[in-house]
Amino acid sequence: MSGKATVVAPANLAFVKYWGAVDLERALPRNPSISMTLSECHSRSTVEPCPGAATDEILLRGEDGTLSPAPPAFAERVLAHLERLRRSLGSSDRFRVATENSFPAAAGMASSASGFAALTLAVARALGRDLGEREASALARSSGSGSAARSVIGGYVEWPAGESEDDCYAFPLASHEHWDLRNVVAIVDAGPKRVSSRDGHRLAETSPYFEGRQQALPRRLRAVRDAIAARDLGALGPVLEEDAIDLHLIAMSSRPPIFYWKPGTLAVLEVVRGLRDHGLSCWSTMDAGPNVHVICEPGEEARVAASLEALDGVTRIIRDRVGPGPQDSDRHLF
Ligand code: PMV
Repeated sequence: MSGKATVVAPANLAFVKYWGAVDLERALPRNPSISMTLSECHSRSTVEPCPGAATDEILLRGEDGTLSPAPPAFAERVLAHLERLRRSLGSSDRFRVATENSFPAAAGMASSASGFAALTLAVARALGRDLGEREASALARSSGSGSAARSVIGGYVEWPAGESEDDCYAFPLASHEHWDLRNVVAIVDAGPKRVSSRDGHRLAETSPYFEGRQQALPRRLRAVRDAIAARDLGALGPVLEEDAIDLHLIAMSSRPPIFYWKPGTLAVLEVVRGLRDHGLSCWSTMDAGPNVHVICEPGEEARVAASLEALDGVTRIIRDRVGPGPQDSDRHLF
């Protein structure tokens, strides 16, 4: 049945990152990536087909709960994706679309991944279509926010490198019930980042360290798959930290260079190392932004959160965990 539909899709956090593309327009990545799908950090998207309407209407729900027209740059990306979805799903309908994020958008926290995953699934639902996992992943990826390919699946997810549209979709490695990992996010700056991940991907190959990372990746990917299968945080942690540092090393040495870190980022990294010196198994990773995600097991989450909360540079903590993936919802945004 077609009609108004709402989907909540989570952000995801990569242990081995997507950084650099074979084809940036179609988000075909240079390297495979592996992520954990989150739970608390998510986007809600409500879509209603408006047959006969001349244009799409793109709304954003702010923190105060009011709906307003989306800012032009965001609306443009949504409109372009709606065009793609109409072509792929065989519809000529225009849509009314509203989006809400549960966390700071555009601060290197994968709000575009959750946003485009939610939008893709909600449009399909609104058209009465039930997408399979592969189709949903490939369609979400085609938004240009490649990591959206991983946000349509729960638990632990791998997204292979892509040569062509047809084989470029993510698949599950393990369900969220397999391993209860926590992600304590230390927000050191909730403002929008100055350089998009799109520019980061575009410039990545100008770094002299880009090829070195490519060579390290097969070993890293194997280690991460094995660590997830064995629920071995002692094996996973060093590798996820190594890959995050490499991403930022490449960004900082791209031409022109990109600095996503803020002083608070370094302060958090130091505290996490200190916690490890005191016997805690907790490990840091950052996406294309200054905020730090600290991965640990449930028994250590409270101590990690308390230590990070006490830091001057940290404005807010989000306590997240691995989650089951997108869900349909009856709470519509309009
Ligand atoms: O999906 P994009 O184009 O926003 O790129 C995501 C880039 C990182 O978040 C830094 C890494 C990743 O794999 O999620």
